[in-house]
Amino acid sequence: MTSLFGRHLITFDQWSRTEIDTVLDMADELKRRRAAGEVLDWLKNRTLFMIFFEQSTRTRNSMEAAMTQLGGHAHDLTAEKMQISHGETPRDTAKVLSRMGEAIAIRNCFYGIGNRYLNDIAAHADIPLISMQDDVYHPLQAIADLMTIREHCGPDLRGRKVAISWAYAASHAKPLSVPQSQILLFPRYGMDVVVAHPPEFPLQPDLVARAQQHAAQNGCRLTFTETMEDALRDADIVIPKNWGGFAHIPDFTDDEPHRYLMRNNLERHRDWICDERRFALARPDARVMHALPADRGREVTDAVLDSPNSIIYDEAENRLHTAKSLLTLLLGRR
Ligand code: CP
Repeated sequence: MTSLFGRHLITFDQWSRTEIDTVLDMADELKRRRAAGEVLDWLKNRTLFMIFFEQSTRTRNSMEAAMTQLGGHAHDLTAEKMQISHGETPRDTAKVLSRMGEAIAIRNCFYGIGNRYLNDIAAHADIPLISMQDDVYHPLQAIADLMTIREHCGPDLRGRKVAISWAYAASHAKPLSVPQSQILLFPRYGMDVVVAHPPEFPLQPDLVARAQQHAAQNGCRLTFTETMEDALRDADIVIPKNWGGFAHIPDFTDDEPHRYLMRNNLERHRDWICDERRFALARPDARVMHALPADRGREVTDAVLDSPNSIIYDEAENRLHTAKSLLTLLLGRR
């Protein structure tokens, strides 16, 4: 597939299966070539503008390292470093950056705001807009997860069972975008996905409906349960991960009453931790994954996360290879 040049990436749900396969194939190729010590300059003199509204370790460094390793350069920006903080419009920001470089990448996870902001930038940008996570989607994480599962389970993933379980965390209310991107992508590759969460922490109903359609079209199942045990039983892949609530409440604002309510709901579910007893319900060769950062000892125990079944660092490394693949395909000269 060679027609990805210039495309925006906000969610892989807007991309065909063939286009996603192209990203995975290119990522495999770039991983092999890095292992062989090859130096590539496919993005020489190309500039990526990265604008972060929130913190990041993996996304920031995988994208910046990707540009460096391909001979280009990434500007590491925040809203505060730019006139965005003084109210400059998405249109002016998009138009100006389009005159100066080859792509814009943005992370904005504010509930009810982030996805709309990214779409606003995309509507006015003359160069690709790449989501580095918003309040709804995290495509860069989902594609790295898929690459990692293929490496460990083989290219034919039909009939594999992925358990995505909500887990308790105290560090911050983690975005819904990771599980939502996973349930949208994994069924397209024939994987059965079961999601466990307490009733207060549902995923967005419209995205669940879309993911159910993908599952039906691909002969697999997306199911839901309210216990971690149910989800983990006989799973091939276990993903214990916190996410916050309220993202799909239209007037949600991150104000004090909401945060109070969220904390109350959280504290009732401290026992939602993936420990050795629960992980033992999965298949003996099951892999545990986590997008990271993990709340160790809250979402998942060290014993599970550091066990031989853990592939969390492969998953993190694959953020680099998939970032290089996407940047090559979207920005590279033809
Ligand atoms: N998984 C992930 O996106 O990590 P960062 O928040 O560190 O970028």
